[in-house]
Amino acid sequence: MTDLPLAGVIGWPIHHSRSPRLHGFWLRRHGIAGAYLPMAVAPDRLEAALRGLAALGFRGVNVTVPHKETALALADSADGVARRIGAANLLTVDAEGRLHATNTDAFGFAANLKAACPSFRAEDGPAVVLGAGGAARAVLASLLDDGSPEIRLANRSPERALALAEAFDAGRVRPVAWDEREAAMDGAALLVNTTSLGMQGQPPLAMRLDALPLQAVVADIVYVPLETGLLAAARARGHVTVDGLGMLLWQAQPAFRTFFGIAPEVDQALRDAVLGEG
Ligand code: ATR
Repeated sequence: MTDLPLAGVIGWPIHHSRSPRLHGFWLRRHGIAGAYLPMAVAPDRLEAALRGLAALGFRGVNVTVPHKETALALADSADGVARRIGAANLLTVDAEGRLHATNTDAFGFAANLKAACPSFRAEDGPAVVLGAGGAARAVLASLLDDGSPEIRLANRSPERALALAEAFDAGRVRPVAWDEREAAMDGAALLVNTTSLGMQGQPPLAMRLDALPLQAVVADIVYVPLETGLLAAARARGHVTVDGLGMLLWQAQPAFRTFFGIAPEVDQALRDAVLGEG
């Protein structure tokens, strides 16, 4: 029997994940003799892997692509935010070996926005959200919980935007045609890209920002590259911009506290460590 705290991240594949580096940095900074491991688990073995966590002595795990929805379904219990998002990114193992699912992505989005722009208040004006995948679900949960009066949701496939609006809050989430995304920025206080457009290896996000008020904040959840074309264009117009790396770092903070008992800091040294080569 060992007291060495164990945690990790399960995905398929897993070698791209920055989470081991991130948690490893915090473990070293706090002098914690624990481990946070990358674990490649194929979809057909996820259930067996999760059922083995308690016996292996894991305190919990993060789950990432493509397991987030299945992890929620397999967990013995789940909190409200994971159920609303329809996906889990954090499973904790209780004393009886049961798995509890939660999702810290909405927290990560909100905390990153607050750190980058302390004066931003979701209730101050409409938001334009691009995309209707898993990341969009976390962003919607966060903005709605923080009192956003209106979310204009533009997605290439309109039926996905419609489904999200109905699932979340048909009164406040308004689907917008993909071709109308530029006009939808009129009067907005926030623009968020949750699509994969602008990511390295993906097409750019073609978008004129002329209709966006200059005081609006522009956020991108893409972080490779750190400054996407969208963020560069927004910065050139004078907008406050929020990059996607921060969301990744902030979503990890409550997970680390759950695993290792300390709420670690998100700062420049962490960003450098996560971005570093190797
Ligand atoms: P995630 O869970 O990371 O959000 P996802 O569910 O694959 O990933 O969603 C990717 C998002 O990027 C979707 O909103 C997708 O639009 P569709 O719902 O129409 O597929 C969007 N996206 C990806 N490639 C796109 C492209 N070439 N043009 C416009 N939107 C794109």
